[in-house]
Amino acid sequence: MRTTVGIIGAGPAGLLLARLLHNAGIDSVVLESRDRDYVEHRQRAGILEQGTADVLRAAGAGERMDREGLRHDGIELRFDRRRHRVDFPALTGGRSVMVYAQTEVCKDLIALQLKEGGPLLFEAEALAVEGADTDSPRVRFRHEGTEDVLDCDYVVGCDGFWGVSRKAVPAELTRVFERTYPFGWLGILADVAPSHDELVYARHDRGFALLSMRSPSVSRLYLQVPEGTDAEAWSDDEIWAELERRFETADGWRLERGPITQKSVTPMRSYVHEPMRHGRLFLAGDAAHIVPPTGAKGLNLAVGDVVTFARALTYQKETGSAQLLDTYSEACLRRVWQAERFSYDMTTLLHRAPDATPFEDRLQLARLERLAGSRAAETDLAEAYTGFPFG
Ligand code: FAD
Ligand code: DHB
Repeated sequence: MRTTVGIIGAGPAGLLLARLLHNAGIDSVVLESRDRDYVEHRQRAGILEQGTADVLRAAGAGERMDREGLRHDGIELRFDRRRHRVDFPALTGGRSVMVYAQTEVCKDLIALQLKEGGPLLFEAEALAVEGADTDSPRVRFRHEGTEDVLDCDYVVGCDGFWGVSRKAVPAELTRVFERTYPFGWLGILADVAPSHDELVYARHDRGFALLSMRSPSVSRLYLQVPEGTDAEAWSDDEIWAELERRFETADGWRLERGPITQKSVTPMRSYVHEPMRHGRLFLAGDAAHIVPPTGAKGLNLAVGDVVTFARALTYQKETGSAQLLDTYSEACLRRVWQAERFSYDMTTLLHRAPDATPFEDRLQLARLERLAGSRAAETDLAEAYTGFPFG
């Protein structure tokens, strides 16, 4: 098989890239190791930055998002039994975010790709990227029990943190920056209307909690838990009781309970692989970088990377100049490091480390007081949360 751009992975990065290239008249083939149902139902991100929503719309993939997504103009910070709202449009000149789940973004992009785009092969596992530093890179893959080769002009590794594409960058050319955290998130989906109409990020002495949503009738909630926690070790009642404690306010706010339909634990990690390009292999999204989820940046970074790649390849096609392809890694990494910084700040602001000292507890509260009392500090948060411009 042969194509211009071989795309490994049909998460948000790979699927959006295939769509952007299709719209630019560039052909591609997407290889995805899992089946369609798995990709469409894997519970992950929920928040789209304004720029991400704009890109989906411009790509012709925003119709259902605009109908069913929920525009959010702020978040609530909760600490010391108090609440403080951060008003995004007022602080950023009108910017906001969209609550629209990653599962739905993937469903919309898959439907478009199968209807209008190039081949999208499910249960097609990439085994290795070969010849990345030549003019004709190849992807070896296995589909329906048979091994095959995809010959490409370019390969884009959109295969997430556990994929194979990153391994094709020689170790001596690679630098990895990494931090793990001694806690994770226990996430639940529950069939109950969200108890607040905006997201609530809560700092509590017992640990962080987050109230989010998937629709007006489905809540998504997260609890900080120790690293390595088994989700099944928590009964539904224990989860609700702990959420109630961490969200408690002095003004009598109430958390509504409902049937829990899903629960799972996510580990927390910061990770950056530099560079994001080797020859004709480009890395995008979680294949190149991970942020802890507290700032809701992972999916949005993946979108930024593939927008940058699609622009660079289109420029090359139109002008013959590889200039933007050559600066791909630097352009993406500037944005990636800003998101790493913000996600780290949000994580350390709101989570309680197992060895936290009373001094550190007071500092967290002082940082939250500063956010609640200073327009400058709030603006900094609002700008980062609603999203930095794409590179
Ligand atoms: P992925 O979504 O991981 O997709 C990679 C794809 O490649 C997968 O489909 C995988 O099956 C496939 N693959 C892997 N190996 C191979 C192979 N060898 N061959 C073929 N295919 C392969 N981000 C936000 O922006 N906002 C949020 O609110 C947010 N919340 C989150 C909450 C949780 C609990 C979690 C876990 C993550 C959250 N994120 C959030 C992060 C976000 O989900 C990821 O950053 C995003 O999925 C990255 O997209 P991707 O396409 O790069 O990678
Ligand atoms: C969700 C996830 C996040 O990481 C976050 O910061 C906000 C919302 C969510 O899944 O809804």
